Amino acid sequence: MIKIRKANINDLKEIYRIEKESFPDPYPYGLLKAFLFHPGVYLVAIVEEKIIGYCIGIIRNEDIGHIISIAVDKNYRRRGIGTILLRNTINELMKLGARKIRIEVRESNIAAIKLYEKIGFREKEKIYGYYSDDETAIVMFLELENHQK
Ligand SMILES: CC(C)(COP(=O)(O)OP(=O)(O)OC[C@H]1O[C@@H](n2cnc3c(N)ncnc32)[C@H](O)[C@@H]1OP(=O)(O)O)[C@@H](O)C(=O)NCCC(=O)NCCS
Repeated sequence: MIKIRKANINDLKEIYRIEKESFPDPYPYGLLKAFLFHPGVYLVAIVEEKIIGYCIGIIRNEDIGHIISIAVDKNYRRRGIGTILLRNTINELMKLGARKIRIEVRESNIAAIKLYEKIGFREKEKIYGYYSDDETAIVMFLELENHQK
């Protein structure tokens, strides 16, 4: 059974482990820690007492929710955990006033793009050379007015 709860300082080691295995350019430990103290949403997914995913979202310009990062442990992917984490984060961002949600994704990251499209995100623009290795980012938005919880 999957449990979703707010992240806390004791979760950071596992969050950082997942971050490092998930991204070619992982966020530093200190940044993942700093978001714990930033207003917004920071959730972890737990299976059998083990942290197997996390998602961070913040509010920008009062009503734009911004997904900063989402990742699921390699051994637990494709079981709906990313979807549950993202939906919960979106719902919490709505409670904080979000009317739309923004996310950036590498154009080669088909898994993430498919996940976002399935939830209802749509491509708004591309930012060429956005990432440190020059890869293009696709900027996607979810409009919450019509969003099914
Ligand atoms: C993106 C990520 C969070 C998805 O997590 P997940 O728990 O595997 O996602 P889900 O099981 O909820 O998948 C939901 C849908 O996304 C799509 N999807 C997920 N992984 C996919 C893959 N490898 N290939 C194609 N589609 C995929 C599918 O449509 C899937 O639905 P389905 O399984 O019914 O076909 C996970 O792959 C991950 O941690 N990747 C590395 C970190 C990352 O890239 N984060 C996003 C940064 S922008």
